[in-house]
Amino acid sequence: MQRIAVLTSGGDAPGMNACIRAVVRTALNNNIDIYGVERGYAGLVKGEITRLGTRSVSDMIHKGGTFLKTARCPEFIDVEVQRQAVEALSAFGIDGLIVIGGDGTFRGAKDLCDNFGIKVMGIPGTIDNDLSYTDFTVGFDTAVNSVLWAINNLRDTMHSHDRVSLLEVMGRHCGDIALYAGVAGGAEYVLVPEIPFDLDEIARKIKKSYLRGKTSNMIILAEGAGNRDEIAETLRTKSGINVKVTNFGYIQRGGSPNMNDRILAARFGYKAIELLKNNSESRAIGIKDNKVITVPFDEAVKHVSKFDKELYNIAHILSL
Ligand code: ADP
Ligand code: F6P
Repeated sequence: MQRIAVLTSGGDAPGMNACIRAVVRTALNNNIDIYGVERGYAGLVKGEITRLGTRSVSDMIHKGGTFLKTARCPEFIDVEVQRQAVEALSAFGIDGLIVIGGDGTFRGAKDLCDNFGIKVMGIPGTIDNDLSYTDFTVGFDTAVNSVLWAINNLRDTMHSHDRVSLLEVMGRHCGDIALYAGVAGGAEYVLVPEIPFDLDEIARKIKKSYLRGKTSNMIILAEGAGNRDEIAETLRTKSGINVKVTNFGYIQRGGSPNMNDRILAARFGYKAIELLKNNSESRAIGIKDNKVITVPFDEAVKHVSKFDKELYNIAHILSL
């Protein structure tokens, strides 16, 4: 393998820059030419590809976002559009590709392998932590810590005013951000798409706890679990207690990656180049029990929930 390209795709995540850096530096260390593709598959199709040197990733390790930029490219499901991407790679003489993104990005990678025999390595980079084959994705830990910051601040003001706080966090299909931030932030209720919940019961409990002197409660809602305003209105009506809604939004997707995400980025980026150097089959890279693992893309994109029910139960036991 002489020439490899790297791209970031889908929603950005803290640690993507650190991961590109790891890819670039490991490639150069192995005398492999390394290229950066701008704006994910959209840029690949247009041939937005430039050579990266060791200095191109200087002063990047601590920066959130992705300096290669990212994009959604819905047209990429079309095999003729994929063909244009393959032609762009061949015009640059590139014989291996590293994609950093979530399950959509991996579906695109799988198509490039299955339809055109391109060798692709996938690195999980998304704050949602919604890939079941890996314990963690790059960006998740930092995002959860940002949510924790928000919970701490909300606690202060909600407590002063005897209010209930409903904080919406990201996670369209996966409640991991809500779950981890909820446990670490001591939330009373964690509402996730994976587990059904009963608003009547929550309203009853809030009212009961209020009468017992607990005048402030914290509810963390994963965006995929329901409409924040409707849930708050139902709880207000049924409990008679003021529920204030905060949507943390895109703030949780930015920011300097923390130690865990930088280490994960370093290990994954290094592994991707090692696999390509050794002419391995296309694989998605992940982490299980703190060991770097690889699986075929077929397995990586399977929708199997890895939701941690034990941690979910702990959240509720500790919130009494
Ligand atoms: P993520 O990678 O974070 O899940 P998306 O779901 O937006 O983010 O996917 C990123 C990109 O991957 C899409 O914009 C599209 O270009 C590509 N992609 C997604 N699904 C497919 C698919 N089924 N086949 C081919 N490419 C896909
Ligand atoms: O990065 C994943 C994610 O954060 C989802 O949780 C969220 O719904 C989505 O991206 C929103 O991103 P965008 O508005 O950029 O499509």
